[in-house]
Amino acid sequence: MKIIKLQHHEIPPYDLLLLADPSYELVEAYITDGECYVYKENEDIIGVFVIVPLSEVTVEITNIAVRGDRQRQGIGKKLLQEAIKVAKSSGYEWIEIGTGNSSIGQLALYQKCGFRISDVIKDFFIQHYDKIIMENGIQCIDMIRLRLEIQ
Ligand code: COA
Repeated sequence: MKIIKLQHHEIPPYDLLLLADPSYELVEAYITDGECYVYKENEDIIGVFVIVPLSEVTVEITNIAVRGDRQRQGIGKKLLQEAIKVAKSSGYEWIEIGTGNSSIGQLALYQKCGFRISDVIKDFFIQHYDKIIMENGIQCIDMIRLRLEIQ
């Protein structure tokens, strides 16, 4: 499975990025600061992740998404493993990711890949998003932060 870094002149796959994060403004901000990697089949982008440095030792996965019709086929796990590999080879010591309290599948995936809960940012999704977000019948209110030591 070939995952490649998107070049600066290439247009990021906003449809996928907005699946993971409904805020266009936030996506725009971290796309500018970070590196975007895509998984393509022929010319179609099937998956994406974005990594952004938080400090000299820590990098954050700010976005990870797989096209709707290709979810639950192991692609998300491969993208996450590639993000870890990229972070490790860039010399980072920690990799972090944040998700909603209602994102049950995502919490399962991240923990299966070794991430452990490190923090909870209370009311994050109420303060930063205009609309109410519901998933799995649960309101998305708090951000669960997870991290993995990679060196
Ligand atoms: N419910 C429960 N578990 C889930 C799940 C779901 N909806 N989605 C993934 N998982 C867990 C499972 O444990 C799964 O293992 P299994 O297939 O053995 O059951 C494991 O994660 C790996 O799943 P995988 O097939 O690699 O995930 P994926 O290709 O569907 O990608 C996402 C996962 C989250 C990237 C994808 O569902 C997606 O793009 N969602 C919308 C965007 C999003 O929410 N991004 C994350 C924002 S924090």
